[in-house]
Amino acid sequence: MLAIRNISPLLLVVALTGCRLDMHVQPRQNPLSKSDFFPDQRSARPLVPGTVARGDLRDDTYFYTGKIGNNPGDYMPFPVTKEVLERGRERFNIYCAPCHSRVGDGNGFIPLRGFARKPPSYHIERLEKAPVGYIYGVMTEGFGAMQDYSAQIAPRDRWCIVAYIRALQLSQHATLADAQGHPIPSAAPEFVNPGTGATLPRVKPATPGAEHEESK
Ligand code: HEC
Repeated sequence: MLAIRNISPLLLVVALTGCRLDMHVQPRQNPLSKSDFFPDQRSARPLVPGTVARGDLRDDTYFYTGKIGNNPGDYMPFPVTKEVLERGRERFNIYCAPCHSRVGDGNGFIPLRGFARKPPSYHIERLEKAPVGYIYGVMTEGFGAMQDYSAQIAPRDRWCIVAYIRALQLSQHATLADAQGHPIPSAAPEFVNPGTGATLPRVKPATPGAEHEESK
């Protein structure tokens, strides 16, 4: 009886230490460490061929490539709404306007300051007639001196930009009838906050015509 009383706390200590060690030293690999288990000694295993990450099945090829077979298609893969155009305008002004300018005439400030090549205006006949899938393809694969934007701009946003470029192209040949009664030139916007140059101006929402101004 005396012996058991003396031993049991000792056992408890040994048992607990064992648990702690098990939790600390786990059968796992540090990132990119060497493995003795696999013949190629890489603990980071390559993807199993033919597997697709959940939510990453790109079966809608037109949406991701803008192509039907080998040729650019000429339809939007989703309906163009005002929200789509506004998203396109925002993304265009961030990613494309520095070179192509906000109206798309190719006089952005980067080419004006000596970029290797001046981009063509979007308002030349060839690009006005180019199918939407072609413009999507330029962003996805790059074109000549222009790098591709597939890493920076998600596929849906690329389509939003395409829709906005079409709107820019239309804007260059707009007639009074297209303005549908809006006063021309439109009334000057009223600002909630004129912006500092580093921040964009915020336009008063209810002002007629304000929706055409930068509001974000
Ligand atoms: C760094 C400057 C730069 C940026 C940013 C840029 N481009 Fe370009 N882009 C060019 C240049 C330069 C060309 C002409 C390339 C050539 O002919 O080698 C061009 C050409 C084009 C063309 C015409 C292709 C043709 O058939 O002539 C399209 C369309 C186009 N860009 C769309 C875009 C879109 C959309 C974006 C934004 C996602 C964008 N670009 C961003 C520089 C740029």
